[in-house]
Amino acid sequence: MAEQRILAFPRGFLWGTASSSYQCEGGNTNNQWYRWERQGRILSHEQCGDAANWWKIAEKDFELAEQMENNALRLSLEWSRIEPAEGRWDSAAIDRYRQMLLDLRRRRMVPLVTLHHFTEPLWFVDRGGFANEENIRFFVRYVKYAVEALRDLCDFWVTINEPNVYATQGYELGSFPPGEKNIQRTFQVLRNLLQAHVEAFYAIRGLQPEARIGYCLHYRLFDPADPLSLLDRAVAGLQDTFFNWAVLQAAETGHFPFPMNALLAPIARAAGTRDYHGINYYTRDMVRFDPTVPAELFGRRFVRPGAIRNDPGLDNTFGEIYAEGLYRVLKAVYRRTRGNKPLYITENGFSDALDDRRPRATLEHLAMVHRALREGIPVHGYMHWSLVDNFEWNNGWQVRFGLIEMNPITQERIPRRSASMYGEICRANAITENIVERYAPEAMDFVFGKTEEEKEHTLTV
Ligand code: BGC
Repeated sequence: MAEQRILAFPRGFLWGTASSSYQCEGGNTNNQWYRWERQGRILSHEQCGDAANWWKIAEKDFELAEQMENNALRLSLEWSRIEPAEGRWDSAAIDRYRQMLLDLRRRRMVPLVTLHHFTEPLWFVDRGGFANEENIRFFVRYVKYAVEALRDLCDFWVTINEPNVYATQGYELGSFPPGEKNIQRTFQVLRNLLQAHVEAFYAIRGLQPEARIGYCLHYRLFDPADPLSLLDRAVAGLQDTFFNWAVLQAAETGHFPFPMNALLAPIARAAGTRDYHGINYYTRDMVRFDPTVPAELFGRRFVRPGAIRNDPGLDNTFGEIYAEGLYRVLKAVYRRTRGNKPLYITENGFSDALDDRRPRATLEHLAMVHRALREGIPVHGYMHWSLVDNFEWNNGWQVRFGLIEMNPITQERIPRRSASMYGEICRANAITENIVERYAPEAMDFVFGKTEEEKEHTLTV
């Protein structure tokens, strides 16, 4: 047999995809994103509508995930279905989630369940949502209800998806509901979300001592346009601290760094309130000092010229495809948390409607996960965003993240090449030379590395 290089992943590594309720279920008309849509705030003016119709036919897509030999799947619960009015619980909604989770378990996929992925019931929003600390108790009450009802089917919980994205988009940039631009509220919301995570953590721990409980943060890299420029470095560092590390530090220790700590109360009982670190990673920005953009902390962000790019979306959110970034983030989180907990990549993906960059990008990002593993960083799973094309928030249907193409009008599914590639990787629990050769030979050198140090770690079969 010919010699073949291979990057093998540890036994029991979780391979899956990630998604969220609003983006996939369809028919969610009781949350703030539906209201946002009705207010004409979606940039494409499209509607989420039936989305990927998961409320009715999620199992069909789970079957496709099973065919890819995924052994995990991350989805979220829609709070606005479970508690449509304050204190009124809908057991039919819970029944539907029970069906989905049972189906996943029958297919031998570990469900990773997110309790809050951006959307909230309108009654909660109308009380001021997470801007009001008083409201945390409502979230915790919902969490208790949901976990009690589902704990026999799920023991991996993500309390809150990306508090840093929710707070900055909704309250600083105004591009997500409620569309505010108020830095002080941004900080307050961020703090309250982290406190809400802590309270939810203890509530879940009480109900299900063996559960794995955590949250996920979105990590975005900010690199200086000119590494020799002190000003570029300073403003890139500011954005990096504010968006990424201040949040992680506060979640870990309960204390925000200066000067945020002057404005914000510490997060009570924060220490130790996670069993893993959830990492969502997509892209990096280059940052140049610019005195005319105080709202962006004096750093103008742009995509590195010459970079391979995601489809940009209507708001240019999706920039460079930068695989080393995932390695850098894994390493930084590991170092900053002193390796105290396992890491899961709870999201990583690419907007690429034609699927002409995704195969290479996926291989290169996974090679970076493997590099982190070789260095002893305990990464336990990888959830690709996303299984099927879904409603991409403000960009509507204009950007496509699915391994499987989905036509929202006909609901037809067509697996992209990336889906069959991902299936082969999951089945092999490895990236093989043969897979790279067939799907993205241009990634070969990057994936298998050229240095002696890299060669030492490739196995021969
Ligand atoms: C969010 C997802 C979103 C993805 C791509 C992440 O920040 O958690 O809901 O679809 O980015 O934009």
